[in-house]
Amino acid sequence: MRLSPAPRFRGRFTLPGDKSLSHRLAIFGALAEGETRIGNFSTAADCSSTLRCLKDLGVEVRGSGRAVDVEGRGPAGLRAASGSLDAGNSGTTLRMLAGVLAGRPFRSVLTGDASLRRRPMERVAEPLRAMGATVATRDGTPPVMIEGAALRGIAWRLPVASAQVKTAVLLAGLQAEGVTTVTEPGRSRDHTERLLPAFGVPLVQEGPAVSVRGGTRLSPLTMEVPGDVSSAAFLIVAALVLPESWIHIENVLLNPARTAFIDVLRQMGGHIETALRCTEPEPVGWIEARTSRLRGVEVGADVVPSLIDEIPALAVAGTRAEGTFAVSGAAELRVKESDRIAALTEGLRAMGARVEERPDGLAIEGGPALRGAEVRAHGDHRIAMALSVAALSARGDTHVEDAECASVSFPEFYAFLERGVAGDRGRHD
Ligand code: S3P
Repeated sequence: MRLSPAPRFRGRFTLPGDKSLSHRLAIFGALAEGETRIGNFSTAADCSSTLRCLKDLGVEVRGSGRAVDVEGRGPAGLRAASGSLDAGNSGTTLRMLAGVLAGRPFRSVLTGDASLRRRPMERVAEPLRAMGATVATRDGTPPVMIEGAALRGIAWRLPVASAQVKTAVLLAGLQAEGVTTVTEPGRSRDHTERLLPAFGVPLVQEGPAVSVRGGTRLSPLTMEVPGDVSSAAFLIVAALVLPESWIHIENVLLNPARTAFIDVLRQMGGHIETALRCTEPEPVGWIEARTSRLRGVEVGADVVPSLIDEIPALAVAGTRAEGTFAVSGAAELRVKESDRIAALTEGLRAMGARVEERPDGLAIEGGPALRGAEVRAHGDHRIAMALSVAALSARGDTHVEDAECASVSFPEFYAFLERGVAGDRGRHD
């Protein structure tokens, strides 16, 4: 993908459904008894991976475009797949389904693409083994072989905050005898805690601990998925860093466990407004952002779990800020779809940014104008999108190798960028 500098970024956008919510609605729908109807389902390749795996497990999934219906027949309605289950690039698919399959009386093998096959899976295998399932990984990575069993509830303390692992253990807990409790060292996204009750499953939340009682049945749900706020992050940063820019994003997820990046951008001096339109089961509303003069801030370990996916976008804002923008306590970034600390350091440095790579984060000395360069996405959708936004604010053209991987979470990304660059005549103040 070749990107030229953009004079401005303007427009009104409505985004495809949130990826994290879409995964959960599909999986919980498959476990429910009856038809779950999902509107504005994510267009992300990752969510197609979830639907494909569910179909391979015998679940009836009907879909045309963004309307997806899942015909659940309870956990007992799942059947052994005829081959291994391919989660593609999606860690969320693999880890959450591991929790489901730990309680099913058959053998499953979960695998994925080359990037996913490098990612750590013992964090999900260990609690599932403690509950009674047989789980094998290949040196801690996929393929993950699961021999489901009659499970017993456990109290599990996660060493690292992870919504995927938390969800996996709770989904296994739903099929286990007694109560299962998961405690996190920091607050990761809470969609599972919000959605399971909407499917009729009572959860008990006590501080950082969440508990579920085994044997509860799920009733189906009808839900319209709000726009993906992690995709919005890239458009927001484009509007903040380019001159004479203004964007409005309608009907987007505003869950505080996902919008901490907006708080950080505001601390940096970003002009961003949000308004809630509804709060149940998830907060939804609109976001507006406009050109801003940014200053560097420090992002510490305490907030990292609630903006982990937005650090690539924030780093781009950091290159345009006055002073130092630093992130610490984010070693998890090294085991995402790529080593995001290394990939950002490499790409932004190639564009002339002053980046210090640290074991658990990075520090960026903002200010110097970026220049167009040849950069690599490392097969990572969020790196591709971050470097593309950086390219809009650079001098000279940038070539982003492997840019098509943006479709893992946001297939419309380059079309939206083009629209924003072409500008919207409707409104600008
Ligand atoms: C996700 C959880 C996060 C996030 C991922 C989606 C989810 O990962 O990075 O993109 O939908 O539960 P962790 O579980 O590692 O925190």
